[in-house]
Amino acid sequence: MEIPFAESYKIKMVERIRRSTREEREQWIKDAKYNLFNLKSDQVFIDLLTDSGTGAMSDQQWSAMMLGDESYAGASSYYKMKNAIKDILGFDYFLPTHQGRAAENVLFSVLVKEGDVVPGNSHFDTTKGHIEFRKAKAIDCTIDEAKDTALVHPFKGNVDLEKLENVLKEYPKEQIPMIIMTVTNNTAGGQPVSMKNLREVRELANKYGIYVLFDSARFAENAYFIKMREEGYADKTIKEIVAEMYTYADAMTMSSKKDAIVNMGGFTAFRSEEIFKKASVYNIMFEGYITYGGMSGRDMNALAVGLDEGTEFDVLESRIKQVEYLGAKLREYGIPFQEPVGGHAIFVDALKVLPNVPREEFPAQTLAVELYLEGGVRGVEIGAILADRDPETRENRYPALELTRLAIPRRTYTNNHMDVIAASLKNVFDRRNEITNGVEIVKEAPIMRHFTVELDRI
Ligand code: F0G
Repeated sequence: MEIPFAESYKIKMVERIRRSTREEREQWIKDAKYNLFNLKSDQVFIDLLTDSGTGAMSDQQWSAMMLGDESYAGASSYYKMKNAIKDILGFDYFLPTHQGRAAENVLFSVLVKEGDVVPGNSHFDTTKGHIEFRKAKAIDCTIDEAKDTALVHPFKGNVDLEKLENVLKEYPKEQIPMIIMTVTNNTAGGQPVSMKNLREVRELANKYGIYVLFDSARFAENAYFIKMREEGYADKTIKEIVAEMYTYADAMTMSSKKDAIVNMGGFTAFRSEEIFKKASVYNIMFEGYITYGGMSGRDMNALAVGLDEGTEFDVLESRIKQVEYLGAKLREYGIPFQEPVGGHAIFVDALKVLPNVPREEFPAQTLAVELYLEGGVRGVEIGAILADRDPETRENRYPALELTRLAIPRRTYTNNHMDVIAASLKNVFDRRNEITNGVEIVKEAPIMRHFTVELDRI
């Protein structure tokens, strides 16, 4: 008999979670104004809101925490982080920040100005927020294949080079501070970008003299998919693949709460000493002194270990196989989601799961609410609410995809939890014809509204 797969870790500490009744959840979600961000965590049985900062650190990371150097300047923890970034990603200069969006804030303060355009694959919402906040425009040049959830394509996170080159031709170089490649492409479904695509983007950038930034929250998952799916990489280690990926980037921002498996932390790294010097001023102003940014020494230590462990094949295999396990269950139940399964999450196709809820009534949010009521499972809407209004017309933007994301925290839940998620979703799917009414917005913020929006059931 073939020996089945099992995770390459065992569990040393556990945290209790509690089931609730449907009646309790009806009340809680009403009190939360049908916004799942407003729920208290103990009102949630399985929390798939995000894989960001919600993973379980390793014993090596916890022991590194005890050795944290909390000196204000020049802490050994800073140098551990610096060495890990140099060894694994190849950058000479970096600045620690408290998380990914802070890294964006620091670097974009140097690079982005009013009237600029920033093309790339799909920008994450904080990235887009930091661009639009500076009165610049983010242009999504992701391949059209990503918009068809049923289509199986190995690298749905890729940029369409023709769309990208059109932007580079249309605008003068001075108005394009950089191209941003988000690896993996979160918004398109945790979908990877191929090495070939990264290389070709680099070539285009060289042709037009444009800077390339990698938004690197899930760069290691991206490298895993390159190894598994791209010709010529099967025999390379994740670290070798990562090293090649970053030869195509001038700079990076990273939310380390994902692939470096820490609860808090981030950084921005660059080759240019000039940009490092300029960004240092903003880092000191917004985050903290340059050798700690927004991080404590113990967190920098855990991050340094996490970068090393997180780029090991078996760690990534254990993680992504669990997401694939959930995907296989959903496929068995006929539930449509973004295929193939992404690195960090399943993105359920809400337009297909709730075909009778009109787009103006936010099907993906409705599905997230229904899934919570059914099983105490908390997902998140990646659809029209997240897409915000157009900054000029103030009309709702309806992206091609209307998805309910089920993000799987790293090393946190077991496959029994995956079974509960799948069964809960199946029960909602089975009564899809009865679900005809969605939600309406009662109150919203002018930008990044999905965090605080107040809704009502129609
Ligand atoms: N870039 C990407 C691709 C992200 O997914 C995130 C965060 C950020 C930047 C910002 O990083 O949260 O540390 O400030 N994504 C989380 C998510 C929140 O749930 O997908 P941050």
